[in-house]
Amino acid sequence: MKKDILLLPGDGIGPEIIDSAVAILEAIAKKFKHEFTFKQHLIGGAAIDAASTPLPTETIAAAKKVDAVLLGAVGGPKWDQNPSHLRPERGLLAIRKALDLYANLRPVKGFEHLLDASPLKPDIINGSDLLIVRELTGGLYFGEPSQRSKDGQSVVDTLTYTRYEMERIIKKAFESAQLRKQKLTSVDKANVLESSKLWREIVDQQKPFYPDVEVNHMLVDAAAMKLITEPNSFDVIVTENMFGDILSDEASVLTGSLGMLPSASLAENGIGLYEPAHGSAPDIAGQGIANPIAMILSAAMMLRYSFKMDTEASNIEQAVEATINNGYYTADLKVKTGSLVTTKEMTNNILRNI
Ligand code: NAI
Ligand code: MG
Repeated sequence: MKKDILLLPGDGIGPEIIDSAVAILEAIAKKFKHEFTFKQHLIGGAAIDAASTPLPTETIAAAKKVDAVLLGAVGGPKWDQNPSHLRPERGLLAIRKALDLYANLRPVKGFEHLLDASPLKPDIINGSDLLIVRELTGGLYFGEPSQRSKDGQSVVDTLTYTRYEMERIIKKAFESAQLRKQKLTSVDKANVLESSKLWREIVDQQKPFYPDVEVNHMLVDAAAMKLITEPNSFDVIVTENMFGDILSDEASVLTGSLGMLPSASLAENGIGLYEPAHGSAPDIAGQGIANPIAMILSAAMMLRYSFKMDTEASNIEQAVEATINNGYYTADLKVKTGSLVTTKEMTNNILRNI
């Protein structure tokens, strides 16, 4: 198959890990006789420097023409003092909105070999395997108004959702649960927030259409606690934008590092964007030591969700697991034994296992 892929390396470690993903995809193309072509555009701080906007119109236009988008990460201290419309993170929010990427899927799977890389007890995290389905284009991060009063003494952020926006992400989560262990935990704050009350109603309304899925509701504070005390009690978690953002970073602790977590951001009928759950890691950028696995597993998700290449995706996932099982680790993984490797060496080891 022939597929066009847009690369948005972004900032910090973004370009380093995008290189790793491209190397892996080229190996997959060769092995399975596909043709992948890569185009590259600007986003984030790199785009601000070159074009004075975090998301140039050419980038959006290019994204709409390809079969899928791979994004590294955006942001860094260089742009932290910029006014909010010139912040790299704006580019990310804007591309999610422009492509209507409403569903963010974040699988969290612990590797047996990395049990001691987590600060959590091995017997708690052993076997953890869950999927966070996060709403990505609504809620607090997009609600207007979001501003400070003229006198600086008060501030407002707005949490808005339409019924339609809630329904589509909840349906997506039910469908995801059907493909996994048929267990869905809906996370909200229905004891306080009006938005969460509607969310709960919609979950209950959808339930009869998915009789094979067992559903329960959980308040977000309790869910935050259970996620690290009883991770094995979860299969699919569905939640709104900000709760999902926070819970997915928390869940990364199960895997030993944020550098292990991939994600897929999907539209209803169209393009998918694939990016690691972590940010641009400015503290280690340019040193060649970033963990490329979250990015590489994101590329595998691209093959699975956008290209329907299940075998190829599994090939990458197995190659990653084999490499980890062979004892290779990057500096972010606090394991006690094995071989410490750089970004390039990790990538080459994974390539050998493809
Ligand atoms: P971060 O995820 O970039 O880094 C948090 C910690 O994890 C750092 O110590 C970093 O070195 C480490 N880390 C993250 N990914 C790693 C990898 N692949 N390999 C090894 N270590 C890794 O989050 P932080 O520091 O809060 O934010 C840094 C910048 O990234 C900020 O400008 C922030 O706004 C931006 N950001 C961008 C995101 C995106 O592009 N999707 C998401 C989150 C933050
Ligand atoms: Mg985040």
